[in-house]
Amino acid sequence: MDTIILGIESSCDDTSAAVIRNGVLLSNVVAGQAVHEAYGGVVPELASRAHQQNVVPVVHEALRQAGVTKEQLSAVAFTRGPGLMGSLLVGVSFAKGLARSLGIPMIDVNHLHGHVLAHFIQEKDAPRESPRFPFLCLLVSGGNSQIVLVKAYNDMTIVGQTIDDAAGEAIDKCSKVMGLGYPGGPIIDRLARQGNPKAYTFAKPHIAAYDYSFSGLKTSFLYSLRDWLKEDPDFVEHHKEDLAASLEATVVDILMNKLRKAAKDLKIKEIAVAGGVSANNGLRNAFREHAKKYGWNIYIPPFGYTTDNAAMIAMTGYLKFQDKEFCSIDLPAYSRAIL
Ligand code: KG4
Repeated sequence: MDTIILGIESSCDDTSAAVIRNGVLLSNVVAGQAVHEAYGGVVPELASRAHQQNVVPVVHEALRQAGVTKEQLSAVAFTRGPGLMGSLLVGVSFAKGLARSLGIPMIDVNHLHGHVLAHFIQEKDAPRESPRFPFLCLLVSGGNSQIVLVKAYNDMTIVGQTIDDAAGEAIDKCSKVMGLGYPGGPIIDRLARQGNPKAYTFAKPHIAAYDYSFSGLKTSFLYSLRDWLKEDPDFVEHHKEDLAASLEATVVDILMNKLRKAAKDLKIKEIAVAGGVSANNGLRNAFREHAKKYGWNIYIPPFGYTTDNAAMIAMTGYLKFQDKEFCSIDLPAYSRAIL
């Protein structure tokens, strides 16, 4: 019998629903929220309200595109956390209500596990190679920067993580102080392609073991920019490509140095990258260069699975379904969690 999982993701500012049948993705619908652009960041209350408006049409569309009815579903998987509590509550409550009304199991998913397990999503007519266990996953998003040791789909250990800001957060904040817009990641990525990565030098942290820190870089960027703006009020306009390229190169360098160290010490050559920042072209190129130089087998997700999406939640739900890892209806959402 087919196993058909509906996944629902609402941890931040994307409402998403996806359907997976026997591990193969049938649909993945994502509704973004333009309402936050005017504020230069996600406004939790507005995000929660937008999820309420979006969740029914998005789930409806995911089922329609997949060509399945809700009565055919085997289970409903949902992001339980971490994320914004008001946003999570919309998806969690909807998923529980739907599963209960259909009399099928509900499966709670850790959003971060979802990002890592996005590497196991299979698409119809386009088979992809998945990482072999054990592998290392560099998980980089707006809220997290971690190196994760993945021994099995349900056995993950954080080897290193940021002690302050996440990589995406640092990029977004630097973009904001330059007045470039929100979210900064894709803008910096686009500008960086036309700039010189060696034009400017910013502070790099000296942190123990495999941990990261990005707050020093953010401050260094801000102070340097202040000085340059005193000399030339149009400094950003004149140098935005070089600023973006140098910022991106610094972030990528910090990320890869620790990942390289972890891979060497743990003797692992299966290396994956996941999360919103894994869409970054500089980081993707650095992965390709490391694969050549160090013999790594690298796993870079398709762009659609880098930022928040329900395909990864449905995939994780599918894997948990095999082990009957269901949850009860009284399980609450959580905003903060370790992996
Ligand atoms: O995983 P994600 O969608 O949300 C969570 O934080 O969970 O990641 C969002 C982050 C933002 O900081 C955004 O600026 C960054 O990913 N991002 C990028 C790119 N696309 C998205 N950063 C660098 N280059 C990109 N192309």
